[in-house]
Amino acid sequence: MAETLVPVRDQEVWRRVREPLERAWTLPPDAYTDPAVFRAEVRGIFGADWLCVARQDQLPEAGDYVCVDVLDQPIVLVRGGDGALRALSRVCLHRAMPLVEGSGNARRFVCPYHNWTYELDGSLRSAPMMEGAAQFEPHDCRLPELPLAVWQGFVFVSLNADALPLAPRLSGLTALLGHYDLQSLAIVASNDFDSPWNWKILVENFMEAYHHIGTHRTSLEPAFPARDSTVEDNAGAPWALLQMPARDTAGPDEARHELLAVCVFPTLLFAVSGSSVFWYQVEPTSHDRMRLRIHVLLPPGIRDALSDGDRAALVQQVCMVHEEDIQANLGTWRGLHGPLTRQGRLSPFEKAIWQINQLWLERMEAIGGEPSWP
Ligand code: FES
Ligand SMILES: [Fe+2]
Repeated sequence: MAETLVPVRDQEVWRRVREPLERAWTLPPDAYTDPAVFRAEVRGIFGADWLCVARQDQLPEAGDYVCVDVLDQPIVLVRGGDGALRALSRVCLHRAMPLVEGSGNARRFVCPYHNWTYELDGSLRSAPMMEGAAQFEPHDCRLPELPLAVWQGFVFVSLNADALPLAPRLSGLTALLGHYDLQSLAIVASNDFDSPWNWKILVENFMEAYHHIGTHRTSLEPAFPARDSTVEDNAGAPWALLQMPARDTAGPDEARHELLAVCVFPTLLFAVSGSSVFWYQVEPTSHDRMRLRIHVLLPPGIRDALSDGDRAALVQQVCMVHEEDIQANLGTWRGLHGPLTRQGRLSPFEKAIWQINQLWLERMEAIGGEPSWP
């Protein structure tokens, strides 16, 4: 199995991770702290699975674009004149200059280096002063395009040209979220956080309510008691759903009085509370760092009525809870480096972590070769 992929010192370690939840252990410290494991994850997970990179409400009009870096690959998400959303490599076909940065609206992409010009569908429209170049025909050239999928308004891309379709793998989760209208939500506020720790620490922290009794004892625990939290069975599908009923849940509108935490493996995290969603945009860059941007999403009608003060209050609310989690994440990161640190036992309340660990191990064992590029 994973000997060549992960520096395994002891097969017993993985057997413990695979135990049924009641007897299961955490991943070993190396899984978080070893750069070689991250390199294996790049191949087996980030290069193979679907990665959430945007919300479709960020690109409503033809010509709207958003630049993202998927690991080392610069990408531009762009809505074409035909209305289709595409994920194109934004690296110029001439001498590899990135064509564009940030976000905005464009009719075409013009490389800032030597002005090669691309249409919104990635085809090369013109390349100046190339008349003397033999057997060079701009119209035969096209930026590589990645598979793209939209689920519940979240835009995913995959570095794996053979990635299985996303929606069927999430059908169980889609059914459970049926009474929420996530598709129509729009981003109203965002905040960036420096996150110098391993990405799995954040995912695990997000997907259990057990820590409400410690980390959030005065913020979340009074409203969403750890002991009332439950996790749906996922039958091995690449998602996890944590339900946190509110202490005062009652009445016909019961479904609204709960907080949900959702993970679409590996890195899409979002929480649902009433009609609002808090989306954690997670982009791991190395074993010891990720880019994290937390977005608040609301129905467009509510968004349009928000004052600047309302937006600031929403961000403040997110920051307050996340600041508490930062302390837990940083502490864990530090503790995982201790030479005496070993695997720990999971609580039955950490079922989502157990589910995610099974997915992680499955991917790490399945690595057979380089992820394929289109
Ligand atoms: S690198 Fe883009 S035109 Fe030369
Ligand atoms: Fe938390």
